[in-house]
Amino acid sequence: MKNFAGKIAFITGGASGAGLGQAKVFGKAGMRVAIADIRQEALDSAVEELVAYGIKRENILPIQVDITDRTAYTAAADKVEEVFGGPPHLLIQTAGVNSFGPAEASTFDDYDWVMGVCLHAVVNGLVIFVPRMVKAYGHKEEFHVAATSSMGAFMAGPTTAPYSAAKAAVNNLIYSYNESLKPYGGGATVLCPGNINSNIGEAEKYRPAHLRNTGYNVTDKTIDLLKSIHAQGMDPIELANHLKAGIENDQPLVIPYPNPEQMARQQHEIIENYCTPEGVKRLEEMRRQMEERMSSFRGGYEDAGFGKARADLDWVDPSKKVAAQH
Ligand code: NAI
Repeated sequence: MKNFAGKIAFITGGASGAGLGQAKVFGKAGMRVAIADIRQEALDSAVEELVAYGIKRENILPIQVDITDRTAYTAAADKVEEVFGGPPHLLIQTAGVNSFGPAEASTFDDYDWVMGVCLHAVVNGLVIFVPRMVKAYGHKEEFHVAATSSMGAFMAGPTTAPYSAAKAAVNNLIYSYNESLKPYGGGATVLCPGNINSNIGEAEKYRPAHLRNTGYNVTDKTIDLLKSIHAQGMDPIELANHLKAGIENDQPLVIPYPNPEQMARQQHEIIENYCTPEGVKRLEEMRRQMEERMSSFRGGYEDAGFGKARADLDWVDPSKKVAAQH
């Protein structure tokens, strides 16, 4: 997709962080932007931020919606057609949440919340919007679907199970849609950032009441630590410009850093190493080197109790497990 002016974008998570940066960049490119988010107060301030950024108020459509709710998400899609006169030419599914703790401590609520927003809601958006987009624009006009995934999509971490699994699945979905939409003149792109300067560190604060039985240690300290990590992340506008370039080039995958091929190769090398005894030994060495590199951060993580299990899960002790193997 190369021409954006006068077209319609629908951006989930558009009230904050990466999604708000995308609304700014695609709004400046002349698109009418619907921003969908679960938090009304964030939508209200995002609209003012977009107007201050130079986007006309009449070209912004804020929609309060929980995208894990299929009925509500469908109503949001209807609303865009009603107000902007058609379905989006560009769907960007960016809304996401995260939560970190040992995989073995994960509860159904941890999986249902993180995978619900990061994966199942992306499925919802694809099923709700893609038929509308193909019917309206297939063989006629450019259209594109995109999702904000993560470098976590390539990595399995001991404390990132629901998040990494969701993001890996999103990558794969987008590769499928990229293939399937090409014959209609469409495309699909997945964006995989490492760290973004955003508000995701506060996501736990609005975890829905019925999904609050977490197995992880979640406290003000872990939230503050996450916020301090994300404060070092990439600026959302810079990130959105990487996505825009990727969409213009019809790339299925955008790794928004110099040497993206090398970064992808390094991640795939880990999977290659899983397959042989020699590879497993190489991985052990890589893990040791990684531990050394990370040791300067460890103190802060330990102090905050970050990535730990909920205190009453006293059987969770990864340090003992490692000791027993050697
Ligand atoms: P953010 O918290 O600033 O923005 C995410 C938005 O999603 C929030 O405004 C939130 O209200 C909305 N949201 C959450 N649940 C929702 C639901 N059920 N329905 C509708 N909206 C919902 O966070 P950020 O970092 O901008 O996140 C955007 C995407 O980037 C996420 O998919 C995240 O996983 C991904 N990502 C973030 C990284 C980071 O370092 N912050 C790194 C890699 C990927």
